[in-house]
Amino acid sequence: MFRSWILAATGVLCATAVLAQDASDEYAAGREEYLVACAACHGEKADGNGEIATMFKDRVPDLTGIAKRNDGTFPLLKVIQSIDGRAVIRGHGNPMPVFGNRYRAAANGEGAILGTEAIVRGRVLELALYIQSIQE
Ligand code: HEC
Repeated sequence: MFRSWILAATGVLCATAVLAQDASDEYAAGREEYLVACAACHGEKADGNGEIATMFKDRVPDLTGIAKRNDGTFPLLKVIQSIDGRAVIRGHGNPMPVFGNRYRAAANGEGAILGTEAIVRGRVLELALYIQSIQE
């Protein structure tokens, strides 16, 4: 009886460990994409200190402080739109690149089984959720 209880408890512990590992990897795709596409400007830690951040007249924003700057609420839709860029009317000289078109071009190359628009939205959403996960 006691032995089976130990076995059950060990099983629960292992399952918990696996779940915890999955949870910490939930944002892996977004993080990977972030490091490739965004870190040069926004910094590896998303603190606005990327390698080429000093090239810009305006300060590159610290992406870990978005929620704080919005009264503690992470504006997911706004972040999605600023990454996508396609639906937002932006002034001239806006240094932040539009990524929706870039992902659209990449998705067209990947073939259209899933639908280009779905691929673009998925990519942008992964990025936005990753940024949400690193809020201070
Ligand atoms: C070429 C430099 C550069 C790159 C690359 C870049 N950004 Fe930006 N980003 C900026 C600058 C500068 C701003 C502030 C001015 C603006 O909004 O254009 C900004 C603004 C933002 C904002 C709005 C922040 C706020 O506080 O409102 C978000 C969100 C953002 N970037 C996310 C990303 C993500 C995600 C990527 C990668 C897919 C990325 N950026 C790539 C330069 C860059």
